[in-house]
Amino acid sequence: MNDRQKLIVNGGRRLEGELRVHGAKNSALPLLSAAVLAHGETVLHNCPALTDVDAACRILTHIGCKCRRSGDTVTVDAANVFGSEIPDNLMREMRSSIVFLGAMLGRMGRCRLSFPGGCDLGSRPIDLHISALRQMGARIGEEHGFLECDAGKGLHGAKIVLSFPSVGATENILLAAVTAKGETEIHNAAREPEIADLSDYLNKCGAKIRGAGESVIVVDGVERLEPCEHSVIPDRIAAGTYICAAMITHGELILTHCRPDHMNGFLQVLEAMGARIYTYGGGKMYITGKKRLNAPPTVRTMPYPGFPTDIQAPFTALCTTAEGTSVFVETIFENRFRHVPELVRLGASIKTEGRVCVVQGVRRLSGAKVCAAELRGGAALVVAALAAEGTSEISGLQYIDRGYECLEGVLRSVGADIKRV
Ligand code: EPZ
Repeated sequence: MNDRQKLIVNGGRRLEGELRVHGAKNSALPLLSAAVLAHGETVLHNCPALTDVDAACRILTHIGCKCRRSGDTVTVDAANVFGSEIPDNLMREMRSSIVFLGAMLGRMGRCRLSFPGGCDLGSRPIDLHISALRQMGARIGEEHGFLECDAGKGLHGAKIVLSFPSVGATENILLAAVTAKGETEIHNAAREPEIADLSDYLNKCGAKIRGAGESVIVVDGVERLEPCEHSVIPDRIAAGTYICAAMITHGELILTHCRPDHMNGFLQVLEAMGARIYTYGGGKMYITGKKRLNAPPTVRTMPYPGFPTDIQAPFTALCTTAEGTSVFVETIFENRFRHVPELVRLGASIKTEGRVCVVQGVRRLSGAKVCAAELRGGAALVVAALAAEGTSEISGLQYIDRGYECLEGVLRSVGADIKRV
């Protein structure tokens, strides 16, 4: 349905007002997978209404869980999980389906799934996931595009050193380790806030995890996990995207239900550009950028707590009209500049060379028809269109809806002239 829809944006309107930040997609997805491990009904509050979350619920239902949503609360009853295969069509819907592997090995002792699909950000290998789970005793065969996984006599703890602080690999190892026999150490673990959120949920279910959020995480395996209630942390990437939208229109925003402490890698660059940021207690922050911002000389995406790769695209859009030239280095993914040619159609002056892109600030953008090719790149086009003179049409909404709850509704509520047709 949403691949035939498009957004019509009349640019030039300042964004001003108050926005509530929805729950984090990249926390809700591993939490939904973790619910497989709990023998009963998990209740997840602040769960965002996204197509990726729907896809995860379809996978849970397929293996025998009962999923239901009421408002932003999703309930998963995993008392009688029976399936151990995730069909190809469900796996292809999103890349993060791979995170079901650790949970299903932990709960069922076996799992069959195809290689994950998802956004085209370059090759998305899962070698770190596979080698870590093999170290924990999993037997994993790869043939015909399928993974045949078996925990044999049950998984056991191991000392795992990740060559890269992979978010998904860290999550899969945690999910496999919480009910494995003995102790697991994860060295060079990802430190993203979503890891700590997953650990908090699992510990509330009876797991014994120490050090989540740090580079070394230690897990003592337990026999069985019981379900609990949990609230998903706010989405720091959605919050950052809303901020880019407000700043490119020289507006001001109050964000509620957010976690500024999860956003320092990004906020400090914004402050250096001339934006003014005030954080209050209780998940509230105020940000204003009434004048043209100064271009940040160099932005290098890094694992948390560095500048997040997921904000690179919306932020590149913001920099298209900043004062000066910026050099972006995308160190995490090999192909994350697919939004650049579309930004150029909107009048931006950008050159890319491999993992580097150079953005020369221009005074103004002009409306055009553009097409999203992946989630965050699609958000970048919306950000740019808000500032472009005249009318823009943005297609490829099936990508944008994966990670943003009703983006046009949110932006319209603070003054944007944007509608979905
Ligand atoms: C998570 O993806 C996020 N997705 C991504 O957000 C995010 O960009 C990424 O972490 C980095 O922060 C979810 O949480 C659902 P990685 P993930 O494993 O786990 C390489 C969005 O827009 N790698 O940390 O896949 C990989 O190729 C999405 O919301 C291996 O080489 O990220 C990549 O270059 C996009 N082998 C780098 O590590 C592996 O086994 C980072 O990957 C695993 C990863």
